[in-house]
Amino acid sequence: MSSIQAHHSKLWFAGQYENWKLADFEVHEIMEAIEDIQRFQTERKESQWVGMINPALDSINQAIQLKNPALFKSCYTLLTNTCNQCHREVEFDFNMVKIPDHQPFSNQDFKVHESN
Ligand code: HEC
Repeated sequence: MSSIQAHHSKLWFAGQYENWKLADFEVHEIMEAIEDIQRFQTERKESQWVGMINPALDSINQAIQLKNPALFKSCYTLLTNTCNQCHREVEFDFNMVKIPDHQPFSNQDFKVHESN
């Protein structure tokens, strides 16, 4: 979950800078982490709930492919709400996530630096 937390935060800033390649990378990192929970942690309580996040991940992935900042924002809110929905289901509701205020790492530049 700590890796999901980092990718969730990075995803937001990638979207804010309209760095769609980075956003695409980050959303797929979250998808992979979710798939790993589904595949390898079947005995854990949250595994039965883990599929609930997939529609929200698909939606934000679509917003990224469309390079649509407004859609990205609304999909990010939906994604974050869905994270918290699972935390409630597994009685982990003292752990709420939100849209980040600050960049997670000061040594990462979220701006687009492509020459083309
Ligand atoms: C299928 C249910 C489920 C979904 C979906 C889910 N979580 Fe979690 N999350 C948990 C459980 C269970 C824990 C506590 C156990 C753990 O850390 O593995 C947790 C823990 C966390 C923690 C605390 C980690 C720590 O060590 O402080 C964070 C932060 C977090 N999740 C963020 C997220 C984010 C962001 C998303 C959405 C992108 C998300 N979670 C989606 C079930 C879920």
